[in-house]
Amino acid sequence: MSVRSKSSKAWLNEHVNDHYVHLAQKDGYRARAAYKLLEINEKDKLIRPGTVLADLGSAPGSWSQVAAQLAGSSGQVFALDILPMDALEGVSFIQGDFR
Ligand SMILES: C[S@@+](CC[C@H](N)C(=O)[O-])C[C@H]1O[C@@H](n2cnc3c(N)ncnc32)[C@H](O)[C@@H]1O
Repeated sequence: MSVRSKSSKAWLNEHVNDHYVHLAQKDGYRARAAYKLLEINEKDKLIRPGTVLADLGSAPGSWSQVAAQLAGSSGQVFALDILPMDALEGVSFIQGDFR
């Protein structure tokens, strides 16, 4: 077995058994990274109801999901990515290079 396929297997195993991957699936988040933003926001309160923000490099969209929830209907979330991203309620997506 090559080093590469060994590490791919290890990555797959870790991913499949990862607690936050399971939680993200259960909670409907597109990636486990959602919990990182929730944790940051718990501490620093960066996003509140009414916040207007841009999510630079947003795909697949888990931070945008969290941001839209936290900003609420009085806030606004603009998501930008060079890749396509499936639509999210409360998020305006712009595809392109944010530079
Ligand atoms: C790690 S992913 C972001 C994951 C996202 N925060 C989430 O929670 O789902 C980084 C993203 O940045 C995008 N990206 C990197 N450089 C970019 C650029 N110059 N313009 C637009 N998108 C960019 C990539 O296409 C990629 O989808």
